[in-house]
Amino acid sequence: MASTFSLDLSPPVNRQMGTTLDRDYFRKTITVLAARFPAKSVGAAKLADELKQSVLDLPKIPSVKPDPTSADCRLIRLCKEEHIPEAAMGYLKRHSEGLTEYNLQLGYDHWNLDEILQAILPEELCAGAPVGFSSTGHIAHVNLSDEYLPYKHLIGELILDKNRRLKTVVNKLNQIHDQFRFFAMELIAGEDNYVVEHHESDCAFTFDFTRVYWNSRLHTEHKRMIDMFKPEDVIVDVMAGVGPFAVPAGRRGCAVLANDLNPESHKYLQHNITANKAEAFVRPFCEDGRTFIPRSIQLLMDDPMAGYQGPPISKARERRDRERGIAKPSTPPAPPRKRVSHFLMNLPDSAITFVDAYRGILAQSGEIGEEYEGHLPMVHCYCFTREAEPDAAAADIRQRVEEVLGDKLEEDVSFHHVRAVAPNKEMYCISFRLPHKVAYARI
Ligand SMILES: C[S@@+](CC[C@H](N)C(=O)[O-])C[C@H]1O[C@@H](n2cnc3c(N)ncnc32)[C@H](O)[C@@H]1O
Repeated sequence: MASTFSLDLSPPVNRQMGTTLDRDYFRKTITVLAARFPAKSVGAAKLADELKQSVLDLPKIPSVKPDPTSADCRLIRLCKEEHIPEAAMGYLKRHSEGLTEYNLQLGYDHWNLDEILQAILPEELCAGAPVGFSSTGHIAHVNLSDEYLPYKHLIGELILDKNRRLKTVVNKLNQIHDQFRFFAMELIAGEDNYVVEHHESDCAFTFDFTRVYWNSRLHTEHKRMIDMFKPEDVIVDVMAGVGPFAVPAGRRGCAVLANDLNPESHKYLQHNITANKAEAFVRPFCEDGRTFIPRSIQLLMDDPMAGYQGPPISKARERRDRERGIAKPSTPPAPPRKRVSHFLMNLPDSAITFVDAYRGILAQSGEIGEEYEGHLPMVHCYCFTREAEPDAAAADIRQRVEEVLGDKLEEDVSFHHVRAVAPNKEMYCISFRLPHKVAYARI
């Protein structure tokens, strides 16, 4: 018996399968070399230094199998190598009960998404096969180009088969709701259920993926902002969506006014505030951001938010202190919060066109004017630019903001590259301190 095998572990190819997935087609028998060991010594043999190089280590397939010819023996599959090394042969002679052939049965479950696609798609579609997808809760979303559309159901089923926690696969269509920015999508496999629970920044977010905006790729950006806020800060999230900035910021202790014009976003925002126990820190609104910007200043003045009392004491610490007779610390109540520290505007397509709404916001009343003297808020405004080079992008964004604001930016201006959205489309966040002249402008 030859002791060498060159194994072809690829799936059987069938380019005539068409657009219906035939899972049963993927069966393959491969004959490999195996060594027969008494059941009681197979564990030691598998770990033996001499055999290490010769045991056939295949993904998803244990290398030790029952011996079909003897209940007292086990088979160890051997050898990916051209030759079993001499030391291994010596070990086998001393300890095994001989070599045999073993028929390894491979099936549909053995191969991954890409391997199966490469075996069934027409040759000309193999190179760009759509193996990547994003997932939000139980939904996988793909963005299939036209040539793969005939295979959309097959691709969807494959994604579900190979990712057991996913239940639904949609193909994103190239239509975005003009105002509320959610995608049109088509179900290509699995359950017709689009209400997801998605986890981000240690919070759970529930929302209907077909009716509100959500982008898991913004996770890092959400986190960057949340980490930058101090727990004492007051945030006005002008276009809050279902709360990926607002809810985690509230959980940190920030006071947040969270607004979104889409009634569906507002509904899920309310749900997410409650579900994450952030009611004391986050207030939801459903208004046009343009009017909400000046109104938020007045809202806070009329009805300030509770002051930040420091990090909550854990239940375990409370119990320990009680057991040791340590009295609860009696900290004086922190002063109520009535001054906005940060405005957040994540509507990159058009947020810059809203910045004129900041003109005169602190000139609304003498009380407001005094409250903010020396404490002008920061504005963080997301936008797109066609400029790929950072300096050119910054110049372009600054010029557009200043044009709409009606004045020059003065202090604390910075630009953060968020991501490349498409060729010639970069997403940035410009942060700037609201200029005094703008905030106190008489209009
Ligand atoms: C790009 S999404 C961002 C949502 C959220 N901040 C996030 O990071 O996931 C923009 C949001 O702006 C909301 N929106 C669009 N026009 C608006 C307006 N005029 N006023 C307030 N919100 C608006 C949309 O409904 C959408 O939820």
